[in-house]
Amino acid sequence: MTYKVDKLQVTNFRNLQSDIIHFSPGINCILGENGNGKTNILEAIHVLATKKSFRKNTGFPQYLGIDGEQPEILFSSVFKDEDETPMSYSAKMNNDSSFYFVNGKPVKKIPEIKLLFINPFDSYQFHNLAAFRRSFIDTYLSMLDPEYKRALSKYNSALRQRNVLLKKKPARFREMVRAYDQQIVTYAVPLTHKRMVFLEEIRPFCAETFKTIFSEEHDLQIILDTRLTQLDESYLLNMLDERRQKDEDAGHTTYCIHKDDYTLLFDGLNSFDYCSLGQQKMSYLSLLFAYIELFRYKYKSFPIVLIDDVSGELDRYRWKRLVDYLEKREFQVLITTANEKFKEELDRIEGANRIHVDAGSIIQ
Ligand SMILES: Nc1ncnc2c1ncn2[C@@H]1O[C@H](COP(=O)(O)OP(=O)(O)OP(=O)(O)O)[C@@H](O)[C@H]1O
Ligand SMILES: [Mg+2]
Repeated sequence: MTYKVDKLQVTNFRNLQSDIIHFSPGINCILGENGNGKTNILEAIHVLATKKSFRKNTGFPQYLGIDGEQPEILFSSVFKDEDETPMSYSAKMNNDSSFYFVNGKPVKKIPEIKLLFINPFDSYQFHNLAAFRRSFIDTYLSMLDPEYKRALSKYNSALRQRNVLLKKKPARFREMVRAYDQQIVTYAVPLTHKRMVFLEEIRPFCAETFKTIFSEEHDLQIILDTRLTQLDESYLLNMLDERRQKDEDAGHTTYCIHKDDYTLLFDGLNSFDYCSLGQQKMSYLSLLFAYIELFRYKYKSFPIVLIDDVSGELDRYRWKRLVDYLEKREFQVLITTANEKFKEELDRIEGANRIHVDAGSIIQ
């Protein structure tokens, strides 16, 4: 089941006024000058869909509007599924807790709204930080494959407990570490297998989206840099065993799939070493759109795509191509910009929904 956002109204969320914002099922351009609340709209949707922000170390105290009369944030929204059936989804948040309601009834588990968020800094982070690359793949693969998500959470929980033992070294900790080794390898093998299959599956879409969006004949490929030379439980157990002393000295687990990394290859060359900033951005965006195509291929539907001003570093010709590409897609996209030239390109789109944000007020 995938959803599109139809309406949103927030009270006391950052600088946003309690205006009802209407979204179209296609392209929604969120326009306005710097600091008026464009990103805050995307953030509100992100918070509703995932219970958290895309901004780091942010929660209720930062969300709460500084001029609000009550220390409480209200979200009220309507989402529509593939059959256009509306679902009303609301939330109430205060300093201690959050409450969620679907069609008026309180729920513990929130609806699974598939969302993809693209930030202007992500290309930079993707190319510079291994931790970002890992979490990128883990997030997107989890959205595509619930079994991957489950196995990953089990792997991470075993890893955390193993690390606590290695750090604190309680009595007889070596025996307990061994018990976690078994759990870790049980999940490491299928997780690595799924990662490899995913990278293989996304590959044709990468080359294709790069060509369609930026009309350039470059090959884009993402590959796994793994330290695992064999995908075999007893081999992995052995490796963990051999490393135990090293792990005890370090106080954490120094080997296994949480150390795996990814490289983006641009015509076979490491995009980080070889590409210009603009090319890195194009490669990163192509990878994301390739993911959306793969998602469609698997689910016959799309996630909601939130794009927060990505026009930096792209020349006018590339923006135009990107806008052309978005115009032809069937997914719901919310794209913000303060950039006048990018705005002009967006203005060309027939039937796009334009949302102007002025000091937190919405003009549609
Ligand atoms: N808790 C809060 N209460 C009230 N206002 C807030 C709160 N948090 C942030 N703001 C205000 O929200 C505004 C930032 O909004 P936002 O990041 O959505 O801007 P933007 O339109 O995306 O701008 P840019 O084009 O620069 O990205 C700032 O003016 C900031 O002062
Ligand atoms: Mg912004």
